[in-house]
Amino acid sequence: MKALIAAGGRATRFRPLTWSMNKHLLPLAGKPMIFYPIENVVNAGVKEIAININPGDTEVRSVVGDGSRWRVKITYIEQQGGPLGIAHAVYNAREFLGEDEPFIFHLGDNIFRAGIKNIVDRFLNTGLHCALTLSRAPNLKELGVAEFGSDGRLVRVVEKPQIPPSDLAVTGVYIYDKHFFEAFKHMRPSARGEYEISDIHTWLIQNGFRVGYDIVDGWWKDPGRPDQLLDGNILAMNTLPHESYVIEGQMDPSVQIQGLVKVEKGTKIGPNVLIRGPVIIGEECEIRNTFIGPFTTIGSGCVIDGAEIEHSVLLDNVTLKDIGRIDGSMIGRHVTIVSRQKTLPMSGHRLIVGDHSIVEL
Ligand code: DAU
Repeated sequence: MKALIAAGGRATRFRPLTWSMNKHLLPLAGKPMIFYPIENVVNAGVKEIAININPGDTEVRSVVGDGSRWRVKITYIEQQGGPLGIAHAVYNAREFLGEDEPFIFHLGDNIFRAGIKNIVDRFLNTGLHCALTLSRAPNLKELGVAEFGSDGRLVRVVEKPQIPPSDLAVTGVYIYDKHFFEAFKHMRPSARGEYEISDIHTWLIQNGFRVGYDIVDGWWKDPGRPDQLLDGNILAMNTLPHESYVIEGQMDPSVQIQGLVKVEKGTKIGPNVLIRGPVIIGEECEIRNTFIGPFTTIGSGCVIDGAEIEHSVLLDNVTLKDIGRIDGSMIGRHVTIVSRQKTLPMSGHRLIVGDHSIVEL
């Protein structure tokens, strides 16, 4: 089977970070988010993957590459006309998918604790036209939600319902056979201007095709907002194998390490640093006079002196100096946050903050 992974879209809820970076490259447990769907389809036996990107996007390709890292072939397909909806992304990839063979469609922002191998195996063994995976979710109004008839059978999927018809959301991994393309012929853009994947599912169900579903094992996340990404980061860090927490950087003898901590090569830590894991610190950082608390990931090239950081994600090349404590924060690339205490006037905050930033003082 081939697989298509969606990595286009607008990601407006991650602005300002996504003005300059594709959302699917934001890290979870120190790894770009899109690596998780790639690993899922590779572990399910897929050898040929296409990634759907926005027209002109070069960043995903430069980070993910040609697939040799996973011993598979990865190609890139630009979504003609831009992000016109996830059903459109599949239709747009019809040449790659072949319009004849079953395929996996995985949203590039969906993370599954237990992978997707069981789901794929079930599809192969049951002769379905379409396999969905459902999960209980608190934010049903932001998702596609399954509706069941009085006999308990799936009757339709409603996209972002005002009144959710059940407590089961449809997650972002789908398996289809060629009837996807037949369904697409009947699609029209929704009120928000997108070709909705939920409309495909409703059409298939209502036109007599076999649409089956499983309930996801373990947790499932689709981090659509910074707070959801921080939450996903906790789950991903908690499920990293303990052996991956290794210290390769240089540690001053005074540094105190508690719990699971990973420090990559070229990083220098200390003096006067306490790190309480789980914590991941990237390459070539310098960290002094600082406390780093649980569920924090720090990108490469960061310089931190005089800070307390907890439950936060710092991307690459962040500089923090004498700033006190930060918690529950996401800090973008090349951001500098320093204390004003050494310049005049000594009170007040000096802020140079991009569009759509959030600063809580
Ligand atoms: O995460 C599961 C949910 O994903 C489902 O419950 C919904 O039924 C489904 O519509 C989808 O809802 P979202 O609002 O989360 O979709 P989003 O716009 O965030 O896009 C999902 C992924 O697809 C994301 O990785 C971006 C990518 N994408 C999105 C669009 C609209 C594309 O590649 N092209 C697109 O045109």
